[in-house]
Amino acid sequence: MNELHQRVLELLPRCVEDRRWLHRHAELSFEEHETSDYLQAALRGIGGLDISRPTPTSVMAVLRTGRPGRCLAIRADIDALPIQEENELEFRSCRAGVMHACGHDGHAAILLNAVRLLAERRERLCGELRFIFQHAEETPPGGAVEVIRAGVLEGVDEVFGLHLTSTLPTGDFGVCGGVLTSATDRFEIEITGKGGHSSMPQECVDPIVTGAQIILALQTVLSRSLRPSDAAVLSVCQANAGSAYNIIPGGMHLTGSVRSYDERVRATAERRIREISEGVAAGMGASVQVDYVRGYDSIYNDPALTDWARGLIARTFGEGAVCELSPIAPGDDFCYYDQVCPGFFLELGAANPEKGSDAPHHNARYRLDEDALAYGMEYTVALLSERCRPTE
Ligand code: NI
Repeated sequence: MNELHQRVLELLPRCVEDRRWLHRHAELSFEEHETSDYLQAALRGIGGLDISRPTPTSVMAVLRTGRPGRCLAIRADIDALPIQEENELEFRSCRAGVMHACGHDGHAAILLNAVRLLAERRERLCGELRFIFQHAEETPPGGAVEVIRAGVLEGVDEVFGLHLTSTLPTGDFGVCGGVLTSATDRFEIEITGKGGHSSMPQECVDPIVTGAQIILALQTVLSRSLRPSDAAVLSVCQANAGSAYNIIPGGMHLTGSVRSYDERVRATAERRIREISEGVAAGMGASVQVDYVRGYDSIYNDPALTDWARGLIARTFGEGAVCELSPIAPGDDFCYYDQVCPGFFLELGAANPEKGSDAPHHNARYRLDEDALAYGMEYTVALLSERCRPTE
């Protein structure tokens, strides 16, 4: 058994303890005060790190080796979600209606304990390592743009991140070069008609009939306006109108989401949603206001870094640990880091049905398999130790 693996197993109980504390004290985006204080205190305890607060609820620790080499950054997100936890765990969230239901408690604990291990091995490292504990991933426009604006990536050569996932078993490393996640956009369609008595429709402009036709016509954006090989999802998820059975309302509001993996597809979807909504509304004598709000962009994994990481995972955990992924739907504001410098983002398996760790993310019964924390720590330490080496 190699030395790093041994140390990871020794440190695992501490990592589990950190993760459980963070889980218990779950905090929403932009409100991660206790979380960031906890992380800052723990990082201080390690010693030899420059610690700063890029924003009120984020923390960065920098390990300077004093030897020439790359400047590498790694990011963990730390926020929780507005969900009432339904798990019966002794460390269940102590905050009503707030829960770590996406595994960000695990991300923070993995990175914190990887810092502990890297600090122990600092004599063997070169260059500079930056550890970014980022707030507010769950709430666009997100914390990434704020910490980047605060300068966390200045002088950084490469950036890394990971997400635990219940779609892969513990021990699997999900790798995908190029586009990894979808761009996550939202649209709002405000239809204005003319309200009146249900028995006199000739005096009204019915926004519900208009809205119904818009909803159906939007289904053609994917089927008629995009290439068969294009991948995208368009869903109308809210349709609100009306107050009584015999009143034609004056307006209707539709809300929906678009997920895409390509700028051309994204721009086409936006344009067609506007054209269809405006055209159908005009035909019905109604007016319409369309707001298309761009969310996170796609994460782009640098192909060369991805190949390198694939090799590292195979060397460290065996060929069978590498699981080739197709692009996935959930978005992540890690996309803004890889727009500044080459990046690699990993999907780390954390599902174990035997332990009840297979509920989907953002579910009140989401539960990560804590054994995945060991894989995350070992991966992070191996990655940064090997990658920081000076290039001849
Ligand atoms: Ni997440």
